Amino acid sequence: MFIVRRPHVRLSAIATAVLALEAAGCGCPDAKSEATEEFEGVVKGPDLKNAREDGETDAERCEAACRVVAGEELDDVETCEAVGPADDPERPWAEGVAEITVTCTATYTAYQFCTGRRPQGHKEADIAVQSRADWFAVHAHLERAAVTAFRELAEWLTGRGAPAGLVGRCRDAAADEVRHADALEALALRDGAEVPSPRADPPTGDVFAVACHNAVEGCVSEAFAAVVAAHQAAHARSLELRALFTRIAADELRHGQLAWDLHAWLWDRLTPAQQTAVAELQARALFDLPGNSRRAAAATPRELGWPGPDHAARMAELFARRLRDAAGLAA
Ligand SMILES: [Fe+2]
Ligand SMILES: [Fe+2]
Repeated sequence: MFIVRRPHVRLSAIATAVLALEAAGCGCPDAKSEATEEFEGVVKGPDLKNAREDGETDAERCEAACRVVAGEELDDVETCEAVGPADDPERPWAEGVAEITVTCTATYTAYQFCTGRRPQGHKEADIAVQSRADWFAVHAHLERAAVTAFRELAEWLTGRGAPAGLVGRCRDAAADEVRHADALEALALRDGAEVPSPRADPPTGDVFAVACHNAVEGCVSEAFAAVVAAHQAAHARSLELRALFTRIAADELRHGQLAWDLHAWLWDRLTPAQQTAVAELQARALFDLPGNSRRAAAATPRELGWPGPDHAARMAELFARRLRDAAGLAA
């Protein structure tokens, strides 16, 4: 079941909680992509019992166990192998087996996480991050795309008679994104990388499409980007980068709060069925956030101050849990 109440979220409190824990120790069609990955892990306890009972055949049991190991909502399990304990590896599904090891290949729909807000219809740049220069190029590209996103949003809100405060905050956010894009582009160029210009299909103007897009790109991706930027502000290796990410973190936190305030305004303009669909989409993006953050962290040079993969996933899990609680979303 998903929320039926109007969401009200104070993002700064959630971001502070996530960062305090750290210190102690985007559906929207354009935010999705198909991915295939190999997963491997141990399944035991209630998860193993459920997998054993969920399937009528060993293949179905293995698929259920694969979904546990993946921790993602899988579209299709292509290959799957389950191995029992050392003394009886061939019979993983026998009664009394306490734990099994599962190796599987599966496809899933990834809601991509980026450090900014993509506009509707954004076309992903084809850059593999293999160096600090690549990372700056990708993120300068995304920050530039976010300029378009906020300008389109300001224009759309104006046409809908939205409160001047919301429109003004979108215009201010666009100006912030220009500064972010300029700063990261300068770093990319200094490191010898080229920054591809953003490309996007025209936006869809109906309120449901805008609400879907904002619920994922703004309320999840951009909001968590604020948390990651704060981590970078504290952990990037150079003083220059720490200063830059300190400014970006403060801006992105405002943008994330803007997304949630916009979400509440849009919520009142949706039908109950649309509200449910938007909530489901947002819950899915939050579910995928830890895995996406882990992959993004693995591809980010450590000197830029990102948390390591496991750490990024834990931060994302906590962030998602807090947001679910605040917004009344089901896990
Ligand atoms: Fe930004
Ligand atoms: Fe932003």
